[in-house]
Amino acid sequence: MSQEPKVIYLKDYTVPSFLIESTELRFELFEEETIVHAELKVKRNPACEKSAASLELFGHEELELIELTIDGAALDEKSVQREGELLILSSLPETFVLKSSTRIHPETNTALEGLYKSDGMFCTQCEAEGFRRITFFPDRPDVMSVFRTTVEADKKRYPVLLSNGNPVKTGENAEGRHWVTWEDPFPKPAYLFALVAGDLKCIEDSFTTMSGREVKLVIYAEEKDLDKLDYAMLSLQKSMKWDEEVYGREYDLDIYMIVAVDFFNMGAMENKGLNIFNTSCVLANPKTTTDASFQRVEGVVAHEYFHNWSGNRVTCRDWFQLSLKEGFTVFRDAEFSADMNSRTVKRVEDVSLLRTAQFAEDAGPMAHPIRPDSFIEISNFYTMTVYEKGAEVVRMIHTLLGPELFRKGSDLYFERHDGQAVTTEDFVQAMEDASGKDLGQFRAWYHQAGTPELHITDEFDGQKEEYRLTVRQTCPATPGQDKKTPFQIPLSVGLLDQEGNELRLTNGEYSEVLEVTEAEQTFVFKGINAKPVPSLLRGFSAPVKLHYAYQRDELMFLMANDTDGFSRWDAAQKLGVDIMQELIGGYSVDRPMALDSRLIAAYRAVLEADGLDKAMVSKVLTLPSQAYLSELSEVIDVDAIHNVREFIRKKLAFELEPLFLKRYQENNLEVDYSPDADSIARRSLKNLCLSYLVATQKTEYLQLAKEQYAQSDNMTDMQSALALVAHSDDKVAGAELLDDFYAQWKDESLVVNLWLSIQAADPSEGALARVESLMHHPAFDAKNPNKLRSLISVFCAQNPVNFHAKDGSGYQFLADRIIELNAQNPQIASRMLTPLTRWKKYAADRQVLMRAQLERIHQCDDLSKDVFEVVSKSLV
Ligand code: TRP
Ligand code: ZN
Repeated sequence: MSQEPKVIYLKDYTVPSFLIESTELRFELFEEETIVHAELKVKRNPACEKSAASLELFGHEELELIELTIDGAALDEKSVQREGELLILSSLPETFVLKSSTRIHPETNTALEGLYKSDGMFCTQCEAEGFRRITFFPDRPDVMSVFRTTVEADKKRYPVLLSNGNPVKTGENAEGRHWVTWEDPFPKPAYLFALVAGDLKCIEDSFTTMSGREVKLVIYAEEKDLDKLDYAMLSLQKSMKWDEEVYGREYDLDIYMIVAVDFFNMGAMENKGLNIFNTSCVLANPKTTTDASFQRVEGVVAHEYFHNWSGNRVTCRDWFQLSLKEGFTVFRDAEFSADMNSRTVKRVEDVSLLRTAQFAEDAGPMAHPIRPDSFIEISNFYTMTVYEKGAEVVRMIHTLLGPELFRKGSDLYFERHDGQAVTTEDFVQAMEDASGKDLGQFRAWYHQAGTPELHITDEFDGQKEEYRLTVRQTCPATPGQDKKTPFQIPLSVGLLDQEGNELRLTNGEYSEVLEVTEAEQTFVFKGINAKPVPSLLRGFSAPVKLHYAYQRDELMFLMANDTDGFSRWDAAQKLGVDIMQELIGGYSVDRPMALDSRLIAAYRAVLEADGLDKAMVSKVLTLPSQAYLSELSEVIDVDAIHNVREFIRKKLAFELEPLFLKRYQENNLEVDYSPDADSIARRSLKNLCLSYLVATQKTEYLQLAKEQYAQSDNMTDMQSALALVAHSDDKVAGAELLDDFYAQWKDESLVVNLWLSIQAADPSEGALARVESLMHHPAFDAKNPNKLRSLISVFCAQNPVNFHAKDGSGYQFLADRIIELNAQNPQIASRMLTPLTRWKKYAADRQVLMRAQLERIHQCDDLSKDVFEVVSKSLV
């Protein structure tokens, strides 16, 4: 690094010195350059105390400023100062018109921030600080302005020209060029600006809002993908309806557009009236799309739509407040998905993700509160913590207030802050004001990082007929935060008697939310005449780690009797974890492995029972993941975890073979594909059974998988079968199917990504060499983030045995990729780095190798802020 990048602190926040009343933009798009003309109506901010303050515009170093005038006149040299990405103008009047012309190069923009090209079409990504790569502007979310945008381009190459809001004018120029002017009447921060120009096709539909206004809905994609847009359209209509019914929120413009692009750093972006989506989050068709992707499309379409209120109408004051919009919106989309599909399944999936990825983040060098107090590069804070833990914090408010008061709170929040840029504090304040509930102590969730741990012990007093739960809370130190104050934690509990019946609790119900507020606290239940089995943290009522010394028999009892579906699954996980941890501990001392027969009995009971929710059956019968066991480990022993897990899977497969076969056959129906919750559940149980059958290593089941591959009419069944054969010991059969699959799908980019991922995740020997050779395959493109994720990130995060190879080859491979990507696409480089940052969790030999690679990256010249921040924090 030539210069250490600057740290930005929340405590340094000051209001903007100038406000922008309106912004008029004109884009001239060409093949070798783009010219951006901007005209801003500027006035001093009355809220700014410094009466002679200068105006700070942000403009990336690569922007070429062609012309700059104020009220039509050029500025004298002393009043203009360009320093890094700042352009500072001084000696300014109270109000003025600022005009600029800037030259940029979207055609060579590989960072995919600002204006860039994806497969020949122009598109933008401005969140968080991408607008400063387009033109000079006060690019901060508390500066909101109305935008009027004209896009001009070659008509043949770019017949479709889009921006935010409504199209108001169009025309043609000389030399085959045309233009369209768009007007967005809602003031917005620059990060919500969007522009698209390309040869796009679309599907159209409409939605009538609760007040009877008709909104035009348009989804754009390349022509070849037109047959994959219906599901996103349906999801959009469902989201619009749901937000009216559940939050009373109506859409505000006359048109809502979504554009699918192939080159995209994240999932999707909520630009006002013009969402831009990664193709992976919008295209869906039974032939090419798995069930998991169908659900992702539904969830992401909803997420971006919900941002129209939680994010756009009410936006963030500064980027430290990111969780204000992201945590709330993830909570909203999770509730939507729960209502559209199975609530328990959705909860299990979200909690699994939180417990693996977010808990690991909280325990690593990048740990931060959901409202961070400093950053070097804000792109590094689009994290599991800000999004998923942020959503859990909103969920806890929902639990503490109850649904009616929570709705009162959200109504007040939207009403009070409509059109404003606000803070997480404003959100909590609205919840407090509307409900009368004191959330004083609760606010610690916003500024304290780390995963709290609850240590629970219990006592039964037969004499007094009392049952007591003593809860002690702790929270490990995180970077910059050694000591934490106690959190307010909603702890949902139930009590079961020996027969498995639920007992009535203090509130007269079967479930009760205890409010844990002290470092140590005892809760007493009266009128209990025999020692009950506690069901703790029902529904995962708080993002904490819970410790209670359950006996294995008690966990089996909860699996069979708990009325809370989440807790039944959680009991199965705990039983699995307990058994696996014992074997993992014995692995390093060569203790022979033997499986506790209780796990077999528990699985048998679930497989034999009729009438259970199939999705839940397949969740319960899935052993705790390698990632979860790693997170729970003091020191991660990659091989031990992998081999123990495989040993148990095989043992279960042999013991329960007839039942797995029976359930497989029963659920292997010949019916038309449908992505509804019941059908998805059926396929997931079926494919889980097949995976156990294949684990027996009997050729007849490998044959069965091949048959499923050949006969399937949908990508879910096809992909599951392909992965099983490809990962089996029969590498010849695997290669044959992989070749067949590629030949069949080579023109479907998203399907090819599945093909790359299956190979990247293959735990058998030689995976790294295969990944390296795939990097030279025509299917791979190192500039496309989806390809990088499918091949490189899957190898590093989902193939632990090979990534953590003893010779360090996996680490070196990743470091090489980061160094290459650092200049090309810093956001992706920095994200891909994550697995190396967890070096402290491994044994000494791995630590040395991982650190060495981090050092190697750290020593590179010209590290981006993104990579610099993560590497330097990881080396502390
Ligand atoms: N705000 C977007 C969302 O959560 C995500 C997002 C933020 C993003 N920064 C981005 C997407 C950069 C792409 C690139 O919905
Ligand atoms: Zn979002």
